[in-house]
Amino acid sequence: MSRFSRLLFGNRSKKSSDDSVYGSVDKRRLPVHVAVIMDGNGRWAKAKGLPRSAGHRAGVERVRTIIRMSSDIGIKYLTLYAFSTENWKRPKAEVSTLMRLLLEYLRDELSELNEKNVRIKTLGDMSRLPKEVAAEVARATFATKDNTGLTVNMAINYGARQEIVGAVKRAVSEAVDTGEIDEQYVSSLLYTAGQPDPDLMIRTSGEKRLSNYLLYQLAYAEFYFTDTHWPDFDEKQFAIALDDFAKRDRRFGGA
Ligand code: IPE
Ligand code: IPE
Ligand code: MG
Repeated sequence: MSRFSRLLFGNRSKKSSDDSVYGSVDKRRLPVHVAVIMDGNGRWAKAKGLPRSAGHRAGVERVRTIIRMSSDIGIKYLTLYAFSTENWKRPKAEVSTLMRLLLEYLRDELSELNEKNVRIKTLGDMSRLPKEVAAEVARATFATKDNTGLTVNMAINYGARQEIVGAVKRAVSEAVDTGEIDEQYVSSLLYTAGQPDPDLMIRTSGEKRLSNYLLYQLAYAEFYFTDTHWPDFDEKQFAIALDDFAKRDRRFGGA
């Protein structure tokens, strides 16, 4: 079986399929930082005649899958867009579902995240989250802060423009001399301070836009778009995206 057909068709049993998919990833050309726009939960549910909430619930399972796989194959940073500053426009009931799922996820997953040495960080303005959600997020962040494996950035109430506005405000309040403002300084004012920029940005479900995601940090990222909806984005799909990335020729403006 070729590496590609193995990727596409996998093996029979679930366990050995995971093993073969993991094994098929080229570890020498792995992105250090992967950023994901987890999109398409609603359309996935609609296609099955289910409520949107069922799509979000199924989406949480893929969060588990992709975190587990990222950690196992040695990706260092994984950034997941969970809730944008624009997502508050959704019906109240949907916003509550998303917030509840986030809370339950962090509560149920904390011990496994710790076992896997995963560090949870957040990108976004946590002050607008419901109190219990903000508390759970703070608990997960604190409980995993010394872990040294995969860093998972959860972008919650995140918007890149809001992030940049915040950075400008801080620069002005720190009253830095304009001569001291360089790219490194600007990076240090973003939520991702101290982290390498994403190498690969994946968006599921066919939309080809950034939706206010990591505008500064994605300057030289490779983009991967797939029609697969997030709840169907499994290990095999992730391996295909990584394989696609491995073949890219990144020039960064050079010849
Ligand atoms: C992604 O799925 C989840 C969030 C944005 C929180 P959507 O809910 O956007 O699903 P579609 O795009 O409506 O199908
Ligand atoms: C982007 O998806 C935000 C998240 C995945 C959390 P949206 O579904 O909100 O984006 P648009 O509205 O299609 O641009
Ligand atoms: Mg969407």
